[in-house]
Amino acid sequence: MTDPGFTQPCSADELRTLFLFEGLTSEQLAWLCREGHVEQHPPGLVFAEGEPALWCYVLLDGLLVLSRKVGTEDVEVIRSAQRGAYAGAFQAFLGDQVPQLYTASLRVPEPSRLFVLSSVAYSQMIHQWFPMAQHLLEGLFFNFQNTQQIIAQRERLLALGSLSAGLTHELNNPAAAAVRATSALRERVAGMRHKLGMIAAGRYDRVALETLIRLQEDAADRVPKARAVAPMEAADREDAVSDWLDDHGVADGWDLAPAFVQAGLDTGWLDHVAATVDAAYLAGALRWLAYTVETELLMNEIEDSTTRVSTLVAAAKQYSQLDRAPYQVVDVHDLLDSTLLLLGAKIGKGIRVVKEYDRALPEIPAYAGELNQVWTNLIDNAVSAMDGTGTLTVRTALDRDRVLVEFGDTGPGVPAEIRQRIFEPFFTTKPVGEGTGLGLDISWRIVVNKHHGDLRVESSPGDTRFKVWLPLAA
Ligand SMILES: Nc1ncnc2c1ncn2[C@@H]1O[C@H](COP(=O)(O)OP(=O)(O)OP(=O)(O)O)[C@@H](O)[C@H]1O
Ligand SMILES: [Mg+2]
Repeated sequence: MTDPGFTQPCSADELRTLFLFEGLTSEQLAWLCREGHVEQHPPGLVFAEGEPALWCYVLLDGLLVLSRKVGTEDVEVIRSAQRGAYAGAFQAFLGDQVPQLYTASLRVPEPSRLFVLSSVAYSQMIHQWFPMAQHLLEGLFFNFQNTQQIIAQRERLLALGSLSAGLTHELNNPAAAAVRATSALRERVAGMRHKLGMIAAGRYDRVALETLIRLQEDAADRVPKARAVAPMEAADREDAVSDWLDDHGVADGWDLAPAFVQAGLDTGWLDHVAATVDAAYLAGALRWLAYTVETELLMNEIEDSTTRVSTLVAAAKQYSQLDRAPYQVVDVHDLLDSTLLLLGAKIGKGIRVVKEYDRALPEIPAYAGELNQVWTNLIDNAVSAMDGTGTLTVRTALDRDRVLVEFGDTGPGVPAEIRQRIFEPFFTTKPVGEGTGLGLDISWRIVVNKHHGDLRVESSPGDTRFKVWLPLAA
């Protein structure tokens, strides 16, 4: 692969002019010239990412371009015409503590002169000439690596922390609603027991009781069929029912009206009751019917709340992938749905969530729990960019041999001048204490390194899209 350059004489005086060799003695510069050599390179590849790192290159004249493979593409990371710019086996002094492979590809887009030193000579030079610097550099290198790992773990915990805070909040509402509804139900049932006592005392005859029971069944049947009405309309209907009850001598009619209205029972139905029940019993019969309706409504509410609790618990289980294999074949929609559900509180009421799913997408092999992390980070960023109001669009599509998952937000966008930097670890525009700048770095590592996919952003004010591509096959 490596394009052999054309060897030229090496001059210690020329090396002396480079910032990189500042402070070296004439003997040391002469040693460099003896151990190394100068190459005139035609435009083209000098070394490729992933090959054994055998040589160190220093620019004397020309232009260096370093690029790294991202998915199937080469992305330029550095372009420099500065004399003394260097690339190659500069980690050789770490020996076998790290894999000695080129971490990027080096190209010269125009004819360039390079000073070249073998990794062995370079390592020997650092070791002998700068022993203390070697220890310091080693320390720096491994400290940085350690810090990165610890912070990544911490970030994972933070994500879990904010998630469980959100989950607690989400669970709290339906749980409290169920408790409230249960205690109201207890009261209504007590009221019905009391009424049953009065019935048993013999104030109603058999025919009247049968009529009442038929009406009760009818009322209970209507509850689940009632459609929800807007508050204004409900208020109007309650007024009408209240008036009707007043007109028919039912005391505290306003107290019963809301239940009848919620159950979809109107004055027409009340007329029907009045026509079937003896006027002497009307008030008692209506109160009994209202209890029936209320208990039905309360039981519905309890059912809804407890269903919501189980749904949330199921989503939390899906999200955390607690009882699943880390690597498995998944439907990305299941992952997206559980993440969106759990982030409900964080997303907030002011943000509209639009799902544009291509349900025909095939399942893909993936580290499901980690992909959930990616969605969480991207949604978190979108939500904070929109600052409370906007639209979050989650789209899925098939893009040739990859699945595309896109998160669109209507926030102000990522300014062009920082677009290159947002994936760097610790890069954040958020105030201290709010962002660590690791969300996108972690997402990048999960998508690109772990899944061999791709992660990119397209952004203009009001339309920002973070796109995640995942391969269909492992
Ligand atoms: N949807 C977006 N709209 C606008 N800017 C964004 C968006 N997503 C990310 N950014 C920018 O990228 C920066 C880096 O994002 P990243 O998720 O890595 O870190 P962070 O959100 O600042 O902090 P952390 O995620 O660790 O809490 C953000 O500070 C923000 O400036
Ligand atoms: Mg973030």
